[in-house]
Amino acid sequence: MTTTLAFDVYGTLLDTHGVITVLEKHIGKKAPEFSRIWREKQLEYSFRRGLMQNYENFAVCTVNALDYTSTFLKLPLSPAAKAELIGAYKVLPPFDDVIAGLTSARQAGFRMFAFSNGSAEAVESLLVSAGIRDYFLGVVSVDEVKSFKPNPGVYCHFLRRAGATGADAWLISGNPFDVIGAISAGMRAAWVKRAADAVFDPWGIEPTLTVGNLSSLAEQIKQFPAA
Ligand code: LAC
Repeated sequence: MTTTLAFDVYGTLLDTHGVITVLEKHIGKKAPEFSRIWREKQLEYSFRRGLMQNYENFAVCTVNALDYTSTFLKLPLSPAAKAELIGAYKVLPPFDDVIAGLTSARQAGFRMFAFSNGSAEAVESLLVSAGIRDYFLGVVSVDEVKSFKPNPGVYCHFLRRAGATGADAWLISGNPFDVIGAISAGMRAAWVKRAADAVFDPWGIEPTLTVGNLSSLAEQIKQFPAA
């Protein structure tokens, strides 16, 4: 069976800190801290909504997290500034290694999908604006099952939509919670550890593979026996 790759989007293909330039315009040197808290709270809201079974589109988590961070840091933002920041979140830049990594994965003959908490519409738009949509057979969104990663149901949904099984499918993600979720749901998973000091959660569930960036991903996955 041909190997299928499910690429996480935010924080794996696209750099969520791409909004820092816009943030710096409005809040100056607090921008990196603001961006970090915004991303952490966005994910926290998705976890809480999944557990509460109180689903809202990931874009709602993003907007709510923006409002929280502005209040928490006592950095008020005008409606226009917030609109500009949310707009910047819709055109995030790809990491430097993404084009090379996706090109080698395509040349290796892997079936490639984007798989995200973001809605299909938002992810399609992000991939087009990043110039990488054509690498993927499709976009699979957790929005189709009204829950969030790492609910095991979203990984099962991906496998159904991609026509794959856990044995022949890999999740590719920079987010340890996503890697642990996919492995726990029966997939293999590669952790994209771009930051040397990034820490993987000490849960006793380890990535199938850890790579420093996507450039060598295809070559390393080919070392594993196909299902
Ligand atoms: C995503 C987030 C979780 O793209 O990175 O699904």
